[in-house]
Amino acid sequence: MENTPSSRRALLLRVLAMGAAVIPTMWAAAQYLAPRKGASRRLRPLGSIGDVFGSSMTAIVTLPSGTAMLRRNDEGVVTALSLTCSHAGCTVVVRDGGFDCPCHGGRFDTEGRPIAGPPKQPLERLEVRIDNDFLSVRA
Ligand code: FES
Repeated sequence: MENTPSSRRALLLRVLAMGAAVIPTMWAAAQYLAPRKGASRRLRPLGSIGDVFGSSMTAIVTLPSGTAMLRRNDEGVVTALSLTCSHAGCTVVVRDGGFDCPCHGGRFDTEGRPIAGPPKQPLERLEVRIDNDFLSVRA
């Protein structure tokens, strides 16, 4: 086997050519397989306000995209906050004064804003619809 600079150069060119062919294919496959954020979101019917909340001002609901916390205020305004951590997708735990993420120590305030740890983005607010006392959340 000849080990000259030209044969090494030819080998290097073949390796680069293979990389040039494989990398775009892998990238396209990853784009195809990766879940698209928000792609399958639609309004999810939850029930009447009374069924969802009972006598409480908060409710935890399970949605196809994860768990969410619903809150209502004295004026009847309902908000929904995803409990999926914005860092790497773990489910955060409700605590006094906010939310804790058990995976990497992320912490969020009561409005879902990051206050400690690796998360840089807030917890996601989900769209809430109320039609004739019937509650739906886009998830
Ligand atoms: S997944 Fe929540 S802090 Fe990393």
